[in-house]
Amino acid sequence: MEILFALGKVFGAERMVPIRSAQVAGASYKTIGQYGLEWLRSLDARVVVPTVLNPVGMDRKKWRDMQISPDFAQKQEEVIEAYARLAVKMECTCTPYYVTQTRYGDHLAWSESSAVAYANSVIGARTNREGGPSALAAAIIGKTPEYGLHRLDERKPNVLIEVEGLPEDPDIAFFGALGYHAGTQVGNRIPLFVGIRPRKDQLKALGAAMAASGAVALFHVEHITPEARIFSFDSSELEKIQLDCPGISRSFQEMPVDAVAIGCPHCSPDELHQIARLLKGKSVRIPLFIFAARGVIEKNMVIVEEIEKSGAGVFSDTCMVVSPAMERFNAIMVNSGKAFAYVPNMCGAAVRLGTTEECIGVATKAE
Ligand code: F3S
Repeated sequence: MEILFALGKVFGAERMVPIRSAQVAGASYKTIGQYGLEWLRSLDARVVVPTVLNPVGMDRKKWRDMQISPDFAQKQEEVIEAYARLAVKMECTCTPYYVTQTRYGDHLAWSESSAVAYANSVIGARTNREGGPSALAAAIIGKTPEYGLHRLDERKPNVLIEVEGLPEDPDIAFFGALGYHAGTQVGNRIPLFVGIRPRKDQLKALGAAMAASGAVALFHVEHITPEARIFSFDSSELEKIQLDCPGISRSFQEMPVDAVAIGCPHCSPDELHQIARLLKGKSVRIPLFIFAARGVIEKNMVIVEEIEKSGAGVFSDTCMVVSPAMERFNAIMVNSGKAFAYVPNMCGAAVRLGTTEECIGVATKAE
């Protein structure tokens, strides 16, 4: 309560609002280390709303397949046990919207930046970009201070992005690249996009990348996202940014890689189906990692088994950025603008961006 009260005071909240769910970052032992683990162990409480974790450092069942060391696995399990004692649900994902009920107008306390962007922008729910401790505090109290993106008047677009020349229904990698370039110019403002008609997975890729290269927690897309139509404004008063396909495509550069990773943010069922289609009749020649929420994998086991026939690994609970498993590679190919932004620093590897089809092509050979 002290954490929440202090935040509310700093940001001028007048009251607390009940939250429907929480998503807590700071779950991989790779990122929180021993100090984080000790802090979690010192807490004596239980969450009172559905609460999930951000991805941890390994697949909890298949960590040996990821070549995770037993020492790391032991420490990671201790972090997970500390959260389990607080009654946090053992779903570790950056796509909590696939595994919890999240509706338009819900107040949330989520912390992973791509999940925050999706909840605010695509669903029309309301969450600030929480830190791990403040999301956990809100989960324990069941409320969060009403400031920032919890207030409708703070959700208006304040910069206009005109996009030109994207191909018809492009792969999510184009939206990742678009988000990557947009984020560097937008910072933490609220953009309104015109000139694009993305589907949900494409919106997910766009928001994740903007949250990584910038600090975007909410964006609107004209005629597409739920709140785009409720604000009236004079577009001539907004700063305009123009992005075009040749500029966006500069991120797609060829180079040899020794691993391919897909699922940043975690794959949707549709994305798993697309990957299975692309892998049909092929087998992998370099490691191919696919990441998705455990709840999504368990509901799509037939398709997951089809993917794994190729030799690809489908993993849950973790991802290419927060797992130490990816640190053994020199260059990693991804179809995600967010992974493109994070892999060099977080994994110490070079990164190549490609479409989903190109990623599968590079990872495989025909049988
Ligand atoms: Fe999710 Fe990991 Fe990407 S947390 S958004 S898969 S960096």
